[in-house]
Amino acid sequence: MQPTISATGISKAFTVKQIRTIALQDVSIDIFQGELTLIIGPSGCGKSTLLATLSGLTIPDTGAIRTLGTDLVAASDAERDSFRLHHCGFVFQGFNLFPALTAVEQVQVPLDYLGVAADETAERAERALEQVGLAARRHLHPAELSGGEKQRVAIARAIVKNPAILFADEPTSALDSVNGQIVIEILHTIARRTQATVLCVSHDPRLIAHADRVLQMEDGRILRDWRPAAGTKAAGNTSHDYV
Ligand SMILES: Nc1ncnc2c1ncn2[C@@H]1O[C@H](COP(=O)(O)OP(=O)(O)OP(=O)(O)O)[C@@H](O)[C@H]1O
Ligand SMILES: [Mg+2]
Repeated sequence: MQPTISATGISKAFTVKQIRTIALQDVSIDIFQGELTLIIGPSGCGKSTLLATLSGLTIPDTGAIRTLGTDLVAASDAERDSFRLHHCGFVFQGFNLFPALTAVEQVQVPLDYLGVAADETAERAERALEQVGLAARRHLHPAELSGGEKQRVAIARAIVKNPAILFADEPTSALDSVNGQIVIEILHTIARRTQATVLCVSHDPRLIAHADRVLQMEDGRILRDWRPAAGTKAAGNTSHDYV
């Protein structure tokens, strides 16, 4: 199977007040569709930087990234923006919902950006809310929803355009354990049902059991790459070995 995302030798360092931090050190990884890949590791190990780099939000200092056939390093800013708009959905820890919009209105926003006709946006938004189990709450505002429900609205907003890739950075960190498990299982189901590529970052090892594949990071490197259902394997081999 061709990888959706193929990164080769990516490195990224930040210099702030003359202190240089190496966030990514020569990371090479292939990410595949139809599965939930979880990136875990301690705070500051480079998880968010890796996610931002693989989604084209951050440009690596060195290395190459091919995503859905697009060279994200060589692409212009406008090409990267267009790539994300058309192919990627994003979910973050803080939900990022508009206080004044109802759930169904929040979910329609990305379709408006894409120029989808108004009658179609309403129908697609309702279907996306159904997929996260929130059809009955579609006319509520964020203040009237629980944290878990808000995150499910954010997931519906991320999947309404049927993106090939869903990026989630700490989507369960603001939630209690039960709601965290509901959210990670929704992401897992999306990967299986829609064959999307789902890449999720978390520092919470309790999510491992819900992932198809786990990349464990430390100090800007991927130390372990394994499939929880299939046992353990050392990093350095791509998942070509498993498929
Ligand atoms: N924009 C930035 N400017 C300066 N340093 C940065 C920037 N982004 C990340 N870093 C540094 O790079 C390292 C990796 O950061 P990153 O945010 O990727 O870690 P993380 O694994 O996501 O951590 P956390 O679990 O706390 O979110 C950290 O030392 C961080 O301080
Ligand atoms: Mg982070």
